[in-house]
Amino acid sequence: MHPILSSTFPDLKLLPGGTEAQIYFDLEGTERPLLSEDQDSVVIIENLVSETDVNNLQKIFNNSPNKETVSALGRKNEKIDNYAGSERLSIWAPNLSDQLYKLLQPFLKEREFNEFSRTDFWQEPLSYKWRPIGLSPLLRMMSYPPGALHLPHYDAAFIYPDARYRSLMSVLFYLSSHQNGGSTRILKDGQDMIPESLRKHQDRDSKAGQEEVLFKVSPKSGSVFLFDHRLYHDAEPCSEERILIRTDLVFEAI
Ligand SMILES: [Fe+2]
Repeated sequence: MHPILSSTFPDLKLLPGGTEAQIYFDLEGTERPLLSEDQDSVVIIENLVSETDVNNLQKIFNNSPNKETVSALGRKNEKIDNYAGSERLSIWAPNLSDQLYKLLQPFLKEREFNEFSRTDFWQEPLSYKWRPIGLSPLLRMMSYPPGALHLPHYDAAFIYPDARYRSLMSVLFYLSSHQNGGSTRILKDGQDMIPESLRKHQDRDSKAGQEEVLFKVSPKSGSVFLFDHRLYHDAEPCSEERILIRTDLVFEAI
């Protein structure tokens, strides 16, 4: 694992799930992972994590007594009228994130951005070329009960004290499959013609309509969805419990 990834240990109060205490298994992966979408800023890999892996990952979540309730915008101590939020478990798991990264690595590549790219390449020191180095060991396991959603919002980079290292893509490992609802949706925000450094990144406390959807991904257990942090996105409500792991892909400036 790249040393920068374990260099910024978060405040233990922010880690109700603790530090890898319950993780005792090796991921097996699958023989036939499939890169089913690759638009650079939006990548889907199917069949990456095996059914056994999914069950083991779900056990971490189910066995933890330390889940937090968060709002439909993923924040603690907040209630947004009319919208059910989710349950979240935050854990610091370098070994597990490293194993997940090794499964992903064959499908990852260097990125070249321009001023309209939807991520945080532009802060000082600015670089247009970045190479992936690993997944953040901070894993957030999320469970959305039936009817819960995640309202439109933007993710953001974690910029390390040495700012040549930062997260630029969000990563969702799906641990459940859904066909009716429950998709992760990339939304229009009317800011395509504005350079990324000048765009507004305002979360929203109302639902997006179908006409705002650019691209949607139906969760499939064992598949992974990666997308540039500053793409506007939400999660559709679903009639079943929806469960996933959210983390960040960290890059190094070239
Ligand atoms: Fe998000």
